[in-house]
Amino acid sequence: MAAVPALPVSLSGRFKGSFAYFTIKDRLPQILTRVIDTLHRHKNEFFEEHGEKGVEAEKRAISFLSKLRNELQTDKPVTPLEDELPDAALWNQYLDYQRNLPNGNGEPSWFQSPWLYVECYMYRRIHAALAQNPPIDNFDVFKEGKAQNFFESQEAVIALCTYFQELLKNIKDLDEKQLQEELFKLLQVSLWGNKCDLSFSAGEDSSQKSSPLQSLENMVPYILVNDMEKVWSLLVNAKKNRTERSNVRVDIILDNAGFELVSDLVLADFLLSSKLADEVYFHGKSIPWYVSDTTKHDFNWTIKQLGSANHMWMSRCGINWEGNLKKGVWVFRDHMFWTLPHDFSSMSEVAPDLYAELQKSNLLLFKGDLNYRKLTGDRKWEYSVPFHQALNKFHPAPLCSLRTLKSDTQVGLKPGQGEQIQASEPEWMVSGKYGVVQFDAGL
Ligand code: F6P
Ligand code: MG
Repeated sequence: MAAVPALPVSLSGRFKGSFAYFTIKDRLPQILTRVIDTLHRHKNEFFEEHGEKGVEAEKRAISFLSKLRNELQTDKPVTPLEDELPDAALWNQYLDYQRNLPNGNGEPSWFQSPWLYVECYMYRRIHAALAQNPPIDNFDVFKEGKAQNFFESQEAVIALCTYFQELLKNIKDLDEKQLQEELFKLLQVSLWGNKCDLSFSAGEDSSQKSSPLQSLENMVPYILVNDMEKVWSLLVNAKKNRTERSNVRVDIILDNAGFELVSDLVLADFLLSSKLADEVYFHGKSIPWYVSDTTKHDFNWTIKQLGSANHMWMSRCGINWEGNLKKGVWVFRDHMFWTLPHDFSSMSEVAPDLYAELQKSNLLLFKGDLNYRKLTGDRKWEYSVPFHQALNKFHPAPLCSLRTLKSDTQVGLKPGQGEQIQASEPEWMVSGKYGVVQFDAGL
């Protein structure tokens, strides 16, 4: 039997000067400071809603978060979770696993452990700070930022909804070539929509200002791996082979709320309206995550906002989408696994129910940078290693990642391609300027 090549090392803050190092040193403490400020700013609101109890809870949450920031900045050991939330045991098992890694780096700590682990752990502790402190336990500290991103992207949302409603008027008359062109456009809008995340800008404005359709052509050279043709062939074949009892199902593993979510919803609507798919499942986060990730509340809120907008095409979109949810051709799901620290290669073991669910799909679309890191294990891969290999046996169904590069890991490039860009643009992997539409057929 051929030897299985060892996995490369994990990205980590222990590599001084790396993007992980700067993230842990600068950006994560900034995010924690913003969270603390947000709680301060809502003090009066907590008082009005819950009286003294609300203010006391706010104080406790702030002191928990300040302690967390101090632990991070002084590279203290990662401590077990002490709350009783449903995923706590899994987190603590994962800490044991990190402790016992054969070539680990001693006691897990903020700068010594894998970046993916400690970054996820920070968001889980932010969640604990609130969840453990009723009556403010349902407060999403990132909600305002997500709403702001949505409102500041208003013009782009209008442009996209208008374009899409015009397209729907004659979608029945489009031939295959034209349908393919439209799919490619909307895949690209959804790809570049991923530039708009708030953890990347440490919560600063990152809304979509210009029309999302205008500059697509100019941006094609920045798509480093472009497998859109493969996505198209898969969908067309699935449609041909579909029987009355087997629906074509596409799953979108969502990333950020705000403009990116709207771009994903438009893509999902197109898949149904063009009859390329019969149903779309959306997967969101069950707790606030990485500042701008989509929770069930964000998902429903966004659709409601569109539905009640003053703009005819925006509201048409929102109303249709509510209809899709009611009819059951759109389904929203969340699962604890998406907010665990594990990469996706362990999904079949840690969350077999979710893995089995994904196996029912014809195509999985993974949005965004964090999902890419979890797909490929957040490791120091050679750029030219095949995507399939980096997935490390994660193959529930054919899948495609739509990701702008915001962290320094990338696979599946042509030999020399990464090195060439690196020579002229040292920041190419973390600037969000480049993207991939990267497909893997599975087994
Ligand atoms: O470092 C940038 C970052 O905050 C990463 O931690 C993370 O991978 C990414 O941004 C989140 O991006 P996305 O919303 O695309 O998953
Ligand atoms: Mg995100």
